[in-house]
Amino acid sequence: MRRSRLAVAVAGVAALLAASGCGSGGSSSSGSPKDVEVFTWWADGGEKLGLDGLVGVFTSSCTQYKFVNGAVAGGAGSNAKQVLASRLQQNDPPDTFQAHAGAELTDYINAGQIQDLSADYQTWGLTSAFPKGLIDNLTVGGKIYSVPANIHRANVLWSNKKVVADAGITADATSLAEFFTNLDKLKAKGVKTPLALGKDWTQEMLFESVLISNLGADKFTALWKKGADWSSADVTKSINDYKKLLTYTNADRDTFDWTDAEKLIMEGKAGYQLMGDWEAADLDAKGFKDYGYAAFPGNKGVYQWLADSFVLPKGAKNTDGTKCWLKTVGSADGQKAFNTKKGSIPARTDASAADYPAYQQSAIKDWKSDTPVPSCPHGSACSQGWQGAVGSAQGKFSSDGDVSALQKALASAAQQFAK
Ligand code: GAL
Repeated sequence: MRRSRLAVAVAGVAALLAASGCGSGGSSSSGSPKDVEVFTWWADGGEKLGLDGLVGVFTSSCTQYKFVNGAVAGGAGSNAKQVLASRLQQNDPPDTFQAHAGAELTDYINAGQIQDLSADYQTWGLTSAFPKGLIDNLTVGGKIYSVPANIHRANVLWSNKKVVADAGITADATSLAEFFTNLDKLKAKGVKTPLALGKDWTQEMLFESVLISNLGADKFTALWKKGADWSSADVTKSINDYKKLLTYTNADRDTFDWTDAEKLIMEGKAGYQLMGDWEAADLDAKGFKDYGYAAFPGNKGVYQWLADSFVLPKGAKNTDGTKCWLKTVGSADGQKAFNTKKGSIPARTDASAADYPAYQQSAIKDWKSDTPVPSCPHGSACSQGWQGAVGSAQGKFSSDGDVSALQKALASAAQQFAK
């Protein structure tokens, strides 16, 4: 029985790898002892350019080691996380992997899968390099378990400036009501997809932005804590608003990754897309310049944050090489090389905004004054189990539109997973 279940798991992972079109990822690096296998989902576009920036600094600072790319394509780790889980279960970890700060990282810590890096923080001078709030999200029981590479913002509304202007829209919407008016203008102008959308996790992001508009920062954050009230009228209103938003989106959304939805913006077939600020880097990488950005309507002053960090798994084959990678990730040079290309802002507090493209300069400014709130699909708010429960509830809602069923499923997921 055990063997056959394992065989099924392995076959599933192999299928994922084939589907992801990824070269080296997903299997242990059996090459030279110098190899450092870095497991991410940054396989293309701006994400890959960010990774390349980090690799450049690693290659020049850690000359005795060799970077091995273990990337598995698929936005937000939609494929990579399954491959990783299966490898960890089989005691075949990569030398390091990408994990989101917050509840998602805590999953790996509680499962005993990653190692304490507190002593290395001292050696590398990292203890004071990052904001205290972020360090708290990387710490369990007084031990620090990963090195953050960046801070991303999730609640950003991207637009095709020309499409929006041609529909007579002259200002960014600051409320959901204004946003619906703008979407109607696009519709009236004949734009087939006023709001481009992708599958599961991208739908969760859109819904969370609506929740932030209706609940505000404090009540939204409280949704991810024990005793949260997912049955409130504010949540019901948010589900109804979100349901209305879906009527402006592409019907094939459930088959789209975020980059497919982004393509509709680039091709002038859509006006808007809610997406994290990796989109800035990706649009730049793809040479599309005519894009606008603003906080999602009603989200101004609220920064929905997430942070990519790297860990040292238990059983990593090349501990010294991995430590050289982690030191690079935390260094000022590494953070600059990575974040200038990735669309995120540096996690370190000593970076100079002038080194960054226009979008990140505005994000660095907002991060200093806005109220931070976490994200569930990007791990800062909720565990992977909770992410899965929300994802399947929203996937169901995308086809049946049953408001009370979604609200019940969200409430019971919170009851099951909130800590
Ligand atoms: C997030 C990740 C970002 C970006 C995005 C889209 O989860 O933190 O760095 O890669 O997914 O793939």
